[in-house]
Amino acid sequence: MRIGVIHGPNLHLLGQREPSVYGKLSLSAIDERLKRRAQTLGATVESRQSNSEGDIVSWIGEGKQWYDGLIINPAAYTHTSIAIRDALLAVDLPTIEVHLSNVHKREAFRHVSYVAPVVMGTISGLGAFGYELALIALVEHLQASTR
Ligand code: DQA
Repeated sequence: MRIGVIHGPNLHLLGQREPSVYGKLSLSAIDERLKRRAQTLGATVESRQSNSEGDIVSWIGEGKQWYDGLIINPAAYTHTSIAIRDALLAVDLPTIEVHLSNVHKREAFRHVSYVAPVVMGTISGLGAFGYELALIALVEHLQASTR
């Protein structure tokens, strides 16, 4: 079971970026935790980060060749990107949207997600652990669909 993890803009700055909102863990520490969790679940994860909407759209578009499912934190593009939403619709891979912060507790512009209506589910506000929960849910879903 191969899971692609896509991190959107500014997430490469995790650890230094507004730690009271996003936590103290760096992105590489989060990815390392996910890798370890994946091993215990019999899955593999491959993580990528980009500040560019175009990269993210391209990676989603190629997703079916490489992955059985996706975990995506589109970061600020969550609230703006019809292109990312369309890419997710086009590939039709089981996908879970993750946000470190609880976007619904924050500014009104963060309450809208263009992605949420086209993914399996969203985890928001549980910090880095949200990625691990997404992985557990995705693996469970993929196993159930092959049973
Ligand atoms: C975020 C929430 C977004 O609103 C914000 O633009 C981010 C990070 C989160 O993980 O909490 O960059 O996706």
